[in-house]
Amino acid sequence: MIRAEGLAKHYGRVKALNGVDLEVPTGSVLAVLGPNGAGKTTTVRILATLLRPDAGNATIAGIDVLARPDEIRKVIGLTGQYAAVDEYLTGRENLVMFARLYHLDQATARTRAAELLDRFALTDAADRQTRTYSGGMRRRLDLAASLVARPKVIFLDEPTTGLDPRSRNGMWDVIRELVRDGATLLLTTQYLEEADALADNIMIIDHGLVIAQGTADQLKGRLGGERIQIAVKDLAHLPELAEIAASVGSGVPEVDQESHSVTVEVRDGAASLVEFVRGLDAKGIEPSDVELRRPTLDEVFLALTGHRTQSVHDD
Ligand SMILES: Nc1ncnc2c1ncn2[C@@H]1O[C@H](COP(=O)(O)OP(=O)(O)OP(=O)(O)O)[C@@H](O)[C@H]1O
Ligand SMILES: [Mg+2]
Repeated sequence: MIRAEGLAKHYGRVKALNGVDLEVPTGSVLAVLGPNGAGKTTTVRILATLLRPDAGNATIAGIDVLARPDEIRKVIGLTGQYAAVDEYLTGRENLVMFARLYHLDQATARTRAAELLDRFALTDAADRQTRTYSGGMRRRLDLAASLVARPKVIFLDEPTTGLDPRSRNGMWDVIRELVRDGATLLLTTQYLEEADALADNIMIIDHGLVIAQGTADQLKGRLGGERIQIAVKDLAHLPELAEIAASVGSGVPEVDQESHSVTVEVRDGAASLVEFVRGLDAKGIEPSDVELRRPTLDEVFLALTGHRTQSVHDD
C-alpha cells in the first residue's frame, strides 16, 4: 500500500534522510523507530506530500506521491507530532471544521464528529475548549481529526510521546482498532515497546539511514533477549555482583559504578532471575533494586551501531 525508494532529503550539510526504502503491505503496521533527529518526521512529511524529497520516489495505493499529491491527500490521514487542533474551539467544533475542510456538508460533518467523539471517548468533553484537554485527550482528538474522511492509509508521528502509561495504553487500543478496521498504518516512535506492541514490521533509522528492519521477533533475535539489572546498596559488592551476573547471563555484564548496578542479558528471563537472586542470597548480598526487562532503544542502538542514541560525536 505504501512503497518508497531511495528517499533523500538534505538541509544544508544535514542529511535528514539519506536513501530510505520502505514498504507497508495493505492492512499492516510499520513502525519507524529511531531517536531524536533520526529522520522520522521527515519521512512522514514526504509521504504525506508536505515535503518534497531531493531524491527518491514513493507511491501510496499505486498513486505517485510526487506527481499526484492531490489524489494522495484523499486517501491518507496524518496525525502530526504536534497538535493541529485549534485550542479555542471545542473538540466538537474542531472535528466539524476538519470535516468541512474535507467538503462534507454541515449535517454529515456533525454526524461524523459525534461518531468520532464517541469512538475516542471524548463525548463528555466534546463541548469544552480543547485548551482544557489533557495531553492524552488532545492526542485522541488529533487522531480523530485525521480520520474524518475515513482514510485507508494513516500516518501517526509519535502518537504517544509524552503521554502517561494509561493514556498510552488508551492510544494503543485506538490504534489497534484502526488496524482491525482494515487501515494501513505507518507510525513513528522512540519506544521499542510501542513498536513491539503495535507493528507487524519495524524499521530502525538513525541519521537518515535504515540500520535494521524486520518483524519484532526477527529483531529481538538479532538484538538479544531480556536483561536483568540489579543494583546493590554497597558499592563494595559490585565485583561479586558482576561475577554472579557473568555466570547467570548469556552476555558480558555491564557494570555501572554510578548507579551501583550490573546489567546482563539472559536467555531465560524468569528462571535466570531466580538463579540470580539465589546467587546473591548465597553470598549474603542485599539488592536494592531488581529488574527484568526488554532491551531499551538505547541498548538496541548500542548493539547495532556501536554508539548510543544520544551520541555526542557524529561519526
Ligand atoms: N526544516 C529543517 N531545516 C533544517 N534542518 C532540519 C529541518 N527539518 C529537519 N531538520 C533536521 O533533519 C534531521 C531529521 O529531522 P526529523 O525531524 O525528521 O527527525 P525525527 O526523527 O522526527 O526527530 P524527533 O524524534 O526529534 O521528532 C534532524 O537533524 C533535524 O535537525
Ligand atoms: Mg519528529
